Amino acid sequence: MNTVLTDNVFWVGYIDWPVRDFHGYKTVRGSTYNAYLVVDEKTALIDAVKAPYAAELLAQIQARVPLEKVDYVVCNHAEPDHSGGLPAVMRACPNATLLCNAKCKDALARHFDTRGWKIQVVADTEKLSLGRRTLQFFDTPMVHWPESMVTYLVEEGILFSMDAFGQHYASGFRFDDESDMCEVMQEAKTYYANIVLPYGRPVAATLARLGGLTLKMVAPSHGVIWRSHFGRILAAYQEWMVCKPARKVVVAYCSMWGSTRAMAEAVAAGAQALPVEVKLINVDATHDTQIVTEVMDCAAFAAGSATLNMGIMPRMAATLTYLRGLKPQGKAGFAFGSHGWAAKGSEEAARYLDAMQMKPVREPLACRFAPDAEVLEACRAAGRALAEVAQRA
Ligand code: FEO
Repeated sequence: MNTVLTDNVFWVGYIDWPVRDFHGYKTVRGSTYNAYLVVDEKTALIDAVKAPYAAELLAQIQARVPLEKVDYVVCNHAEPDHSGGLPAVMRACPNATLLCNAKCKDALARHFDTRGWKIQVVADTEKLSLGRRTLQFFDTPMVHWPESMVTYLVEEGILFSMDAFGQHYASGFRFDDESDMCEVMQEAKTYYANIVLPYGRPVAATLARLGGLTLKMVAPSHGVIWRSHFGRILAAYQEWMVCKPARKVVVAYCSMWGSTRAMAEAVAAGAQALPVEVKLINVDATHDTQIVTEVMDCAAFAAGSATLNMGIMPRMAATLTYLRGLKPQGKAGFAFGSHGWAAKGSEEAARYLDAMQMKPVREPLACRFAPDAEVLEACRAAGRALAEVAQRA
C-alpha cells in the first residue's frame, strides 16, 4: 500500500474495514481515519484516529520516526473519530505540543483530561515553520463543528482538509487515481448528504477563502486523498452546498396493508410520464443514510405514510426527523397516505415537509382505506405535478 504523499509526508491512519455504523450513518463500505505525518527538522502529526486504534497509529508513526521525535500534534477537529486517539498519542510522545485553535482546546478539555498536555493555540492563518516546510492553519467554523480547522502544508501545496471532501470508504488504495472513482464519488456524496448538508453556507465561505491556495493534493480525514481528480469533488461540492436540484423526483412511503404503497406507486407512475428520474423508496426497506442521499439532489419529494395509532408510521417519522435535521433546501413536495378513521399519517408528514420549507404542490392527499380509481388518478396527477417541477430544474 502506497502511504507516501510526497517526500517525507506519510499517511499513518487506520482503515476501518468492518465499521457499518457511524452515529447512525450506515457506512456500507467501511471507513478510514486518516492521520498524516510530516517529517522535517520538526515532525508534525496531523490528526489522530478513533480511540481503539491508537496503537496502530503509534505503530505507523514509529515505522517512520521514534515517538520522541514527534514535536507537534495538530488537532483540526475535536470529534472523537479523530481526537479519540489523542490521549494515547500525547502519553506516548513526550515531546509533543498539541496545536489547535481556541475552540478546539476548550472542546478537547471537555472530552479528555488535557491538564498534562502541552497545548499551543494557533490563530486563523497563523504559520508555523517545521524547518524546510511550513504549516498554515485556517479556521473553517461549522464545516462541520464550531472548532473545525484545516492545515495547509505551504511548500508542498497539500491541504489537510479534515472532514471536508471526505468519504466513508475503506480501501487499500490511498489515492483517488488508484481507486474506482464511481465508488469514491458515490461515497463522497453520501458523506456530504449525511454529515455536511446543513452547512452549505459555511462550506461556501470556506471554499471562497481557500480558493486562492495552490492545491497539489487535498488530504481529508476520511477516505482517499485527492491528487488527480480534485476538480471533480470541488465541482460536486459547489452543487451540493447549494442543494442544486437534478431533474429527479423521490417518492418515499411507509405502508401498513398496501394502500399507501399503491398510492406511492401511482404517484411515481404519474411522475414517470415525464422524462425525469424517479426514485420510489420503501422506507421500511431502505436506510435513512441512502434516503437523504437521494433527497439531497432531487427537485421534488413526496412522503407517504399510513396512519398507525392516530399518528404517522414510526419508521416514516424517523426518516422525516432525520431529513428535517439535515435541512435539504429548495424542494417542492406533498404528503399522502391511507388511513382508517383519521388522516393523521399524511397530516403529520405534511407538517414535516412544512418544517423543511418544501413548497407544497398540493394539500395532503389522504385516502380512507384502499385507494379507488379516483384516488389513484389524483395520485398520478400529483406525481405529474412533481415531475413538472423537476423538469424545470
Ligand atoms: Fe470525521 Fe466530524 O469527524
